[in-house]
Amino acid sequence: MYRSHNCGELRMDHVGQTVTLSGWVQKSRDLGGLTFVDLRDRYGITQLVFNMDENQVLTEKARKLGREFVVRAEGQVRERSSKNANRATGNIEIDVKDLQILNASKTPPFTIEEDTDGGEDLRMKYRYLDLRRGPLQRNLMFRSKLAVETRKYLSDVGFIEVETPNLIKSTPEGARDFVVPSRMNPGEFYALPQSPQTFKQILMVGGFDKYFQIVKCFRDEDLRADRQPEFTQIDCEMSFVTRDQILDTFEGLTKYLFKQMLDTELPDFPKMSYDEAMERYGSDKPDTRFGMEFTDMTETVKGKGFGVFDSAEFIAGICAEGIAESYSNKDLKQLTEWLQRPQIGCKGLVYAKLNNDGTIKSTVGKFYSDDDLKLWAEKMGGKSGDILLLLCGEKEKTQKQLNELRLEMGRRLGLMDPKVFNPLWVVDFPLLEWDEESERFHAMHHPFTSPKTEDIDRMMTGDHETMKALRADAYDLVINGVEIGGGSVRIHDRDLQSKNFDLLGFTKEEAEAQFGFLLGAFEYGAPPHGGIAFGFDRLNAVMNGQNSIRDFIAFPKNTSGRDMMIDAPSPVDNEQLDELYLSLQEIEKSGA
Ligand code: AMO
Repeated sequence: MYRSHNCGELRMDHVGQTVTLSGWVQKSRDLGGLTFVDLRDRYGITQLVFNMDENQVLTEKARKLGREFVVRAEGQVRERSSKNANRATGNIEIDVKDLQILNASKTPPFTIEEDTDGGEDLRMKYRYLDLRRGPLQRNLMFRSKLAVETRKYLSDVGFIEVETPNLIKSTPEGARDFVVPSRMNPGEFYALPQSPQTFKQILMVGGFDKYFQIVKCFRDEDLRADRQPEFTQIDCEMSFVTRDQILDTFEGLTKYLFKQMLDTELPDFPKMSYDEAMERYGSDKPDTRFGMEFTDMTETVKGKGFGVFDSAEFIAGICAEGIAESYSNKDLKQLTEWLQRPQIGCKGLVYAKLNNDGTIKSTVGKFYSDDDLKLWAEKMGGKSGDILLLLCGEKEKTQKQLNELRLEMGRRLGLMDPKVFNPLWVVDFPLLEWDEESERFHAMHHPFTSPKTEDIDRMMTGDHETMKALRADAYDLVINGVEIGGGSVRIHDRDLQSKNFDLLGFTKEEAEAQFGFLLGAFEYGAPPHGGIAFGFDRLNAVMNGQNSIRDFIAFPKNTSGRDMMIDAPSPVDNEQLDELYLSLQEIEKSGA
């Protein structure tokens, strides 16, 4: 027998019992005649004790144990003389009578502690070692339970889990596809799904009115802390439902998950239109844990001879509370430089310090009187001790920059409490986005998203400008500034779907070639339907107050899309390429 108990289990009740434990050596210490070894498994750490006076051979053996050796120890549980209140097993220790080394270990390249000294690529290369660390173990256990609870809730309200294929034809979700060559169909390729979007819609036509799937999706896009090339969605679709019924269902799921996992009762989720989110926060995923909302100052500040403002399309500001005293001119200069970095691209920052003594100091003081600046303060809700921060320029760009500034100030002022959760629905997104470069419309969500009912007639008959103003029945679930999920009511009418493809620049033939199966299905009684997909990795990270999803995925890729452990992607040999008709030779032979 390798173990009678695990390393996190033994308490005072077990004192006197003979037990067997197996695990990894966390560390060992020699103190005179005594050797202490911390033995670790995923349940915890238990202290083993070896006494030179009682058993010299055994203690010599224990002294030779290195970090991460795998051992089996048998002995008696006894009360510790110096207890460790920080450890669940801290009241006891094992007086070891027998020790077996099950496996030796090389010295690990980084410390396997709560906080490690290993860099990210090194940790990924030795992921099996990193996975032994407490934070990763807890994250993956959390993730497992979150999946179980998701399945429990959705099955209880009548959803069924259906698997959809991974070797498919391209689904247009806005990223690039990963493609897979087909050996049996020379020169042809499958695509890995960016999401099961078209399949779940087909399932609705097939009569499965409540579908879900916890499913891998693949997108070849630039990676960030919250983006992986393969990630997991809780993908859902429902038939015969209105938008609000869909939102209620998934608000229910979200509240249930927060209650089960974190014992947190979420409030009802407010709904905010896309336009309102942009006006108030300059972002379609506002972090509403703190205020600092935008004030449009365009009308207020123009006409006083300050050329930069006078010639700007849009001027807006935020009020940073209580920092007039603590923020020196040097800090403000540094903040301006932060805004001027190419990633943000501001020309400059205008500020007005509302000092506690009632004076106001501004970078543009020579253009604006104290009364003018008092009016600014009044408009922006500023009071003594605050600093007003203003940016100007082209409207959309300025909103984005001010959003970055607001988030940065939120971070600096410690306003983003990771234990507070502020969910909201952002609704009524634009249906189409005009891309100046390609002179084409793109679907803001995806091409199967329905316009709002009141916009359908305008969509069928309107001109180019009308199309820019169409609203979609699309929604995002946002928590603490993170887009956790997105979805929409779908088009279920063939003519409307054809019109949408037409607006998106597909010819009839292209639409038929790419989506003929879906258009065909719509001719056989497609029910009204809609759905959503949650980013499962992001949900895990946000629930744990983290920005990066990498430590909630057992084997993630680095920012260059590489798996550092298995060293993928990697070249394949010529024979394999030949078989797939992908080698230069084969391509030349085929004349392509
Ligand atoms: P969407 O593209 O908005 O919608 O994706 C849904 C959610 O998936 C998460 N997500 C990602 N997570 C990690 N890494 C990525 N690269 C990544 N890309 C997206 C986000 C996002 O909100 N088929 C539609 C859903 C629908 O309409 O029902 C879709 O996939 O949290």
